[in-house]
Amino acid sequence: MVVGSGGREHALAWAIRRSPRVERLWIAPGNAGTASVGENVDIMATDLAALVDFARRHRVDLTVIGPEAPLMAGIVDRFRDANRLCYGPTAAAARLEGSKAFAKEFMQRHRVPTAAFATFDDAARARAFARSLGAPVVIKADGLAAGKGVVIANDLDEADRAIDSMLLDHRFGEAGSRVVVEEFLRGEEVSVHAMCAGEQALVLPSSQDHKRAYDNDRGPNTGGMGAIAPVPWVDSQALQHVEHEIIRPVLAGMAADGTPFTGTLYAGLMWTADGPKVLEFNTRFGDPETQALMPLLVHGNDVCTLFEKAAAGEVPTGLVIPAMSAVAIVVASKGYPESAERDVEIRGLDHVDDARTMVFHAGTRCVDARVVTAGGRVLGVTAWSESLTDAARHAYAAAEKIHIDGAFYRSDIGRRHLT
Ligand SMILES: Nc1ncnc2c1ncn2[C@@H]1O[C@H](COP(=O)(O)OP(=O)(O)O)[C@@H](O)[C@H]1O
Ligand SMILES: [Mg+2]
Repeated sequence: MVVGSGGREHALAWAIRRSPRVERLWIAPGNAGTASVGENVDIMATDLAALVDFARRHRVDLTVIGPEAPLMAGIVDRFRDANRLCYGPTAAAARLEGSKAFAKEFMQRHRVPTAAFATFDDAARARAFARSLGAPVVIKADGLAAGKGVVIANDLDEADRAIDSMLLDHRFGEAGSRVVVEEFLRGEEVSVHAMCAGEQALVLPSSQDHKRAYDNDRGPNTGGMGAIAPVPWVDSQALQHVEHEIIRPVLAGMAADGTPFTGTLYAGLMWTADGPKVLEFNTRFGDPETQALMPLLVHGNDVCTLFEKAAAGEVPTGLVIPAMSAVAIVVASKGYPESAERDVEIRGLDHVDDARTMVFHAGTRCVDARVVTAGGRVLGVTAWSESLTDAARHAYAAAEKIHIDGAFYRSDIGRRHLT
């Protein structure tokens, strides 16, 4: 069973389904796309009791958790108590994502490279520390704030306003009752996912999200408008560097602290002149990054077995990484990210018939025989090929065949790497 309803979960379910070992596959709650790779189950991702109960009654052999909310709420702990295999971190291990203050203090203790910082619940002290760092400076709400809790302050007035809005005006409620004030890092952002079990890790190809709504990194921040995998200049040596300097120390630290990490560790990195430094951790697969990663992983690997082994405490060695690149283009509803027009018909899905292209569904649902929009990010049109250039060409050719009134997508996913 895959838990969640976005493009990430469609990609996970699609990859898992390709295993000859899968007899039945459920997605809770899923979307119109997941209904074509398995059976959708009408249970919300945050209804932990109902999910455990369903897994018990249907003897689900393996459950893979997509989104962060159920992880923070302890879904993996609950499945363990019920003796059902579940891939993901415990609530204690998911604090690496759930609290930025916890993650920063953890990294400091275990010497994982990250920006200089301090944590505050007092606004005057936070302001003084921001002054000591100088502008630009970064202010982060401690808890989950739906991607809106980070302010890159270009001057100290802006830093003061961000600090006050979080600590004094409680703009993010409890999530902003503590703030991290940190050094601004320069470089290129890269994401590295690793499938982990205790101190073992299987490091996956690098990837890169595109956070801003419009071309050339303009417009408001979003959940992500497209992704590529791998990042061309991140070679095996660079990836090994991340594994040895970041992934392994984190796993060793979590084990030493009595909260061993099982599941996906996502390191959001800034590749600075001094090498990669951690901006943040997520404790699950990224979305849309997963939509670009899964098409690479299904070539030569049984993805279901990877999840099963990791959930059982043993990460398989010898991941096959094909010499391929993937590009995922997010098609978003009119008004996204501020709002999202819903119930708009999606046409042309069956015109995409390229064997190296897959349209992952995010905010979609079926109404009779039609597929309509049901959220801000609607589809992830993904293609893979020997080169990034060719993958992008195929993905854009497919995106052009799909019609949703008012919808839009970026036309430059991966372009910065193309010559
Ligand atoms: N120390 C930093 N220096 C420069 N940019 C940063 C820094 N921290 C975060 N950012 C930028 O802000 C974005 C969001 O920060 P992140 O820590 O990933 O939080 P979240 O994803 O929870 O919003 C990052 O993707 C990066 O572009
Ligand atoms: Mg982030």
